[in-house]
Amino acid sequence: MGLIWIKETTVPINLNQLMDKIDALRRHGLFDARVPRYTSYPPANHFEAGVGHRYHAQWLDAVPEGEAVSLYVHIPFCRRLCWFCACRTQGTKTMRPVDAYVETLTQEIAEVRARLNGAPKMARLHLGGGTPTILPPHTMTLLLATIFSHFEPARGFEFSVEIDPTDASDALLETLLRFGMNRASIGVQDFAPEVQKAIGRPQSVEQTAKVVEFLRARGTPSINFDLLYGLPHQTSDSFQATLDHVIKMAPDRLAIYGYAHVPWMSKRQVMIDEATLPDKRARLQLAEQAHDAFVAVGYEAIGIDHFARPSDTLAIAAANGTLKRNFQGYTDDPGDTLLGFGASAISKFREGYVQNAPATSAYIERVGEGGLAGFKGYQMSRHDQLIARMIEDLMCRFTLNEGDLALAFPGDKALIHKTLVALMRQFEDVFYISEAGLALRDDARPLVRIIASAIDQFANTGTAHSTAI
Ligand SMILES: C[S@@+](CC[C@H](N)C(=O)[O-])C[C@H]1O[C@@H](n2cnc3c(N)ncnc32)[C@H](O)[C@@H]1O
Ligand code: SF4
Repeated sequence: MGLIWIKETTVPINLNQLMDKIDALRRHGLFDARVPRYTSYPPANHFEAGVGHRYHAQWLDAVPEGEAVSLYVHIPFCRRLCWFCACRTQGTKTMRPVDAYVETLTQEIAEVRARLNGAPKMARLHLGGGTPTILPPHTMTLLLATIFSHFEPARGFEFSVEIDPTDASDALLETLLRFGMNRASIGVQDFAPEVQKAIGRPQSVEQTAKVVEFLRARGTPSINFDLLYGLPHQTSDSFQATLDHVIKMAPDRLAIYGYAHVPWMSKRQVMIDEATLPDKRARLQLAEQAHDAFVAVGYEAIGIDHFARPSDTLAIAAANGTLKRNFQGYTDDPGDTLLGFGASAISKFREGYVQNAPATSAYIERVGEGGLAGFKGYQMSRHDQLIARMIEDLMCRFTLNEGDLALAFPGDKALIHKTLVALMRQFEDVFYISEAGLALRDDARPLVRIIASAIDQFANTGTAHSTAI
């Protein structure tokens, strides 16, 4: 999320100061820029054809024995197709394609496991989509039993699942809990009826609260909500009503993303009337409103778009400087290896990224032929690793520490110094020198994606991204 950060520790801001801030943000292109969300560097649209195919097996072989790995399993099916959604998913009325897909997933999991050395432990398991809760309990049981038979949970294991509360039966939730789900991520977006109608996603407060209560009654330790700002017909008043409902349900974590209107990538978004979208200044104010509402009731703001209770592990990681960026946004997963399973899923290795074939049919075909599903990817050079580290430092900590960077990349001291000086010159009014190094002013945090794009070697060479706010 991009915000004007007005911390509760700051004196109340007056209108002139606010206008000055908005002017400063505009000068740096906040209202015009289209930049990546930097859930990876390089962003996935710069992955290269053939790299995945060439290196997938080699990089799996190289995962050090005894190292805990994290798993992401993609379920690209939904019973409903919300018009706003930019996720890789397809609508289905029957379970036949889902069953065939899960069968392939089990083959892929076995194939990947066979390539890993020793008995790999699993630090994290995340089921995402699409809608993982579309799976009937017996199909979910087959999938999870396969995963747990190949990967033993490591100490502190976390198992999270994306849940659509309109499509999550009690029996399915019980199944997930039986296998140890300890983080539930519930899609909310917005509760205003007019907004829901305009985005093709009806979902009542009661349906959502029922799932929350069901999970809490059974001891689920952590519940996350996803919200969106910048949706059609969203006004300050309507959004406040959504925020009030959310605060009453008291999730442990929140992600509040700016709605990315990218109809050239996500065709279903043509259903959204662009004339009803809030303008960029209104988007900034909605983001700011959410920030203030959550901070006022005790949540910590984390990175650009997350909030968590101070006792939550994400807030603890943010406080002690170990927060990381990944395809789910922010994480406290300390591991170096993420194994992605399913169509379009991305794996991260020390050496680079591998993305599976994006189309479900191509994915099923590849795995059916007995191979790995790696299709695109990117092999990281040392220079890429350095840029990736700097972008992660900016996105997670809003700081760049020359000494720490030089320690991690001793051969690149001159380049690090040159880059920091160049950034300081280009953005001199928003950076200052702090104990932690070169630091972005709190009120300039909405610019962080733009600042990251200034050191991104691929910037302006690919497809158009979403707006910076
Ligand atoms: C896989 S989806 C949701 C999971 C589940 N199917 C549901 O609907 O509750 C994960 C999240 O991506 C976010 N998302 C989807 N489309 C988006 C868009 N166009 N812009 C920003 N965020 C988006 C939403 O907040 C959504 O909850
Ligand atoms: S928001 Fe969820 S249910 Fe709606 S289309 Fe996207 S993945 Fe499917």
